[in-house]
Amino acid sequence: MHLTPEEQSRFDALLEPIVENDAVQSMKTFVQHGSVSTFDHCLTVAQTAFVLNSRLHLGGDECIVVHGGMLHDLFLYDWHDSHWTHSYKHAEYARRNAVTHLNADVRVQAVIRTHMWPIGITHVPVSREAWIVCMADKMVSAHETVLQRAGGSPFAKRAESRAH
Ligand SMILES: [Fe+2]
Ligand SMILES: [Fe+2]
Repeated sequence: MHLTPEEQSRFDALLEPIVENDAVQSMKTFVQHGSVSTFDHCLTVAQTAFVLNSRLHLGGDECIVVHGGMLHDLFLYDWHDSHWTHSYKHAEYARRNAVTHLNADVRVQAVIRTHMWPIGITHVPVSREAWIVCMADKMVSAHETVLQRAGGSPFAKRAESRAH
């Protein structure tokens, strides 16, 4: 999903306060899907959520959408080595890390906590921003998973070129 130059500069300004954080940068060391790092995955989810919100006029707060998207998988471990309960538990680990490392506010925490719905059936998104990131995560995850079988994700290459 291409951002216009105006969208890109708005997106970069929103991301700037959190992207250089050490915990956020450490997501570059973990694999999410195939050749895609957790950092690249989160960056693509944040961009996709930002574009959906903006172009479809969904009315979400842009800062919460971008920060929630970028931090939604801040669980900080290689999930391939983890217990099968990762799917159910990592949103809560990511929320706690976002509070510990970035002092994430309650609206960003709500986005992170519910992004895996309907896995974790009781953690239903309760805000516009949470619904937007939940949907963007599913779109991006499906794309990355399918394309990894075809030799690599263009999402990853695009995200890498924008990563610091
Ligand atoms: Fe996740
Ligand atoms: Fe994700």
